[in-house]
Amino acid sequence: MKIAFFDAKSYDRPAFDKYAAEYGVTVKYFETKLNEDTVYLSAGYDAVCVFVNDTVNEAVIDRLYEMNVRVLALRCAGFNNVDMKHAFGKIHVLRVPAYSPYAVAEHAMALLLTSIRRIHKAYIRTKEFNFSLKNLTGFDLHGKTVGIIGTGKIGRVFVDICKGFGMKVLAYDKYPAEEISDGENVRYTSLGELLSQSDIISLHCPLTEETHYIIDENALDKCKTGVIIINTSRGALVDAEALLKAIKSRKVGAACLDVYEEESELFFEDNSGHILEDDTLARLISMPNVIVTSHQAFLTGEALDNIAETTVKNVVTFFNSGHCQNELCYKDNQVSDCKDGKCF
Ligand code: NAI
Repeated sequence: MKIAFFDAKSYDRPAFDKYAAEYGVTVKYFETKLNEDTVYLSAGYDAVCVFVNDTVNEAVIDRLYEMNVRVLALRCAGFNNVDMKHAFGKIHVLRVPAYSPYAVAEHAMALLLTSIRRIHKAYIRTKEFNFSLKNLTGFDLHGKTVGIIGTGKIGRVFVDICKGFGMKVLAYDKYPAEEISDGENVRYTSLGELLSQSDIISLHCPLTEETHYIIDENALDKCKTGVIIINTSRGALVDAEALLKAIKSRKVGAACLDVYEEESELFFEDNSGHILEDDTLARLISMPNVIVTSHQAFLTGEALDNIAETTVKNVVTFFNSGHCQNELCYKDNQVSDCKDGKCF
């Protein structure tokens, strides 16, 4: 069994090599991303393996189909970069539904604490033996209200972390999990109330047509002055131009961003020797109250190991049995997990 692995990074390889050897699979690593120009590299492989910034659009799917590649193994949970409607019936899409919700939720809290306690500033100061505390005043999280949009696997871990800090949680989800609500410290509410009542807002929902720009100018207008926005989910949940405007007007007190709408050509790469063409991102990064990490939230040893094990197992299971419980299918205009086997 041969897998063409796109957008390969040095940190992907140890775990994938381990599980490929264990399951008798050959993995060919390509540093390039999968897109219309590079799809030809998949010829002769049984499956292609991609990550969040590879492009799996109509043209790529048709070319894979022509080359007789029938399995697309996503080594991530999100599938917004795959044209699922077009893929259905042509190529089986397998994913890793969960690899470490802790990794992402803990990163969200790391960003929040760094931001509000000015750790990023203090670190640079003390490196230069500047021990002044001027402008480093933060605030307690205890007693503050955090609005959590999306209470799936990651959102729920973040709820627990915030509870541990003594925060009040307002949750919003299209499909609420009422069992996490205690009516007092954690409760579900409307998106409108969440926006207007939260001191901090953290996004943990997928990117869909419905959630695209869920944080836009209109939503930011409804927020408390000084609100902190955390996005570790997908860039296009937030309208970056609107966010920038709201930071300039002091409506938004701080932003913690692990994802950015136009990240695909920038994140995961060393661009330090280049001029950043994206003025919005450059301006955001220049702000003292904005922290940007480059889609790093998933990056723990545990998560990388789980990703590799599940991805390799998904492909092997699919080829051995003709189905895989981590397959996604597209039915009635919706993507869902195909738990019971064959989608098509
Ligand atoms: P999940 O599927 O367990 O949870 C997503 C939740 O969002 C569900 O409860 C769902 O009902 C809710 N939701 C769906 N549509 C909604 C809507 N219109 N409004 C409000 N809520 C809605 O997913 P999980 O594992 O918790 O991941 C969440 C997101 O985190 C992923 O979609 C992905 O975009 C992002 N992610 C980011 C990573 C990073 O490294 N920065 C790594 C892994 C995931």
